[in-house]
Amino acid sequence: MMRHLLSAGDLTRDDALVILDTAEELAAVADRPIKKLPTLRGRTVVNLFYEDSTRTRISFEAAAKRLSADVINFSAKGSSVSKGESLKDTALTLEAMGADAVVVRHGSSGAPHRLAHSGWIRGSVVNAGDGTHEHPTQALLDAFTMRRRLNAGPHGEGAVGTDLAGRRVTIVGDVLHSRVARSNVLLLRTLGAEVTLVAPPTLLPVGVEGWPCSTSYDLDGELDKSDVVMMLRVQQERMGAAFFPSAREYSRRYGLDTRRVAQLPDHAIVMHPGPMNRGMEIAAEVADSARSTIVEQVTNGVSVRMAVLYLLLSGSSDPEVAQ
Ligand code: CP
Repeated sequence: MMRHLLSAGDLTRDDALVILDTAEELAAVADRPIKKLPTLRGRTVVNLFYEDSTRTRISFEAAAKRLSADVINFSAKGSSVSKGESLKDTALTLEAMGADAVVVRHGSSGAPHRLAHSGWIRGSVVNAGDGTHEHPTQALLDAFTMRRRLNAGPHGEGAVGTDLAGRRVTIVGDVLHSRVARSNVLLLRTLGAEVTLVAPPTLLPVGVEGWPCSTSYDLDGELDKSDVVMMLRVQQERMGAAFFPSAREYSRRYGLDTRRVAQLPDHAIVMHPGPMNRGMEIAAEVADSARSTIVEQVTNGVSVRMAVLYLLLSGSSDPEVAQ
C-alpha cells in the first residue's frame, strides 16, 4: 500500500481490490456489540476540513475511532485560519501534535498533494475532496456499494476478489464541478467498468475527451443499458454564471424521476454521493426507493475509510491481529 491516498488514479486494480476486500472484512465489526478493534491504538488521525462536510467528516471520525485511533477534528471555521494562518503553518502545528494521518478536505484542487509532498508533515495524507479535482474515498465506497449490490453473495456481501468488469455505469449531471465524477471515472475504469458521463455540454469539462469514458447529452438514450445510474449534485455554490436555462429545464432533461427509473433494467441501482438537491437532479420518490443505495453508501463509507486508514497506518495484512 502507498503512503498517501491522493488520487483514485494512483490505485492499481490490485490496490483497489485489497482496499475493497479489507473493507468487506471490516464491515463485520459494525455488527458486533462493541464496534471496535485495537488495530490503530496509539495512532493519531487529524481530520483537517477547510470545506463543509457531513458524510465524509463523520465517517472518517467513526472509522478512526472504530480502529481505536485518537482523533482530532479541525475545522477551518473557528480556527486561526480565519486570522490568516497559512496551510503550511497549520500543517506544522499538526505535525507538532504528532499526527500519523491527516485527512484533508480543501476548496483548492491540489491542496492534499501540497501537504503530502511539502515535507511539512511526516504522516500519511488522505484526500477527502479537493476543489473540483478528486474525492478518492468516495469513489472507493461507491465501488464497494456497486460490488455488494451487483456481485452480491448469499448475505449481500460483495464477492471478495471480484472487480466490476463489464458493468455499465452512467454518471449524470454537473460533471464540470464534480470531484466525485473524476475519481469514479478513474477507479471504475481500473476495475473494468464502462463509464458514460451524461450532462449538458456546459457541464462537461474541457478535455473530457481524454478521460477513460464516453460522453452523451441524452440521458434517456443511456438508461436501458445501465447497471448503475449515479446522479451528481448540481453545485450551485461553485457556479458563477448560468450553466442551464432554469432548474425546471435541467430537471426535465437530466433529472432522475420515476418515469426514467422505469426504463432501467430490473437489477439496476440508483446512487448519489450526497448531499442531494431533492426535486432537481433526483426526485424524492427515487431517492427513497428500494433501488436507491444512498443511505447504504454512507454506511459503506465507514468500512471503506476504516480500510484506507488501516492499510496506510498499519503494517499487518490482518486487521484483527495488527497492534
Ligand atoms: N459525499 C460527500 O462528500 O458528502 P459530504 O460533503 O457531506 O462529506
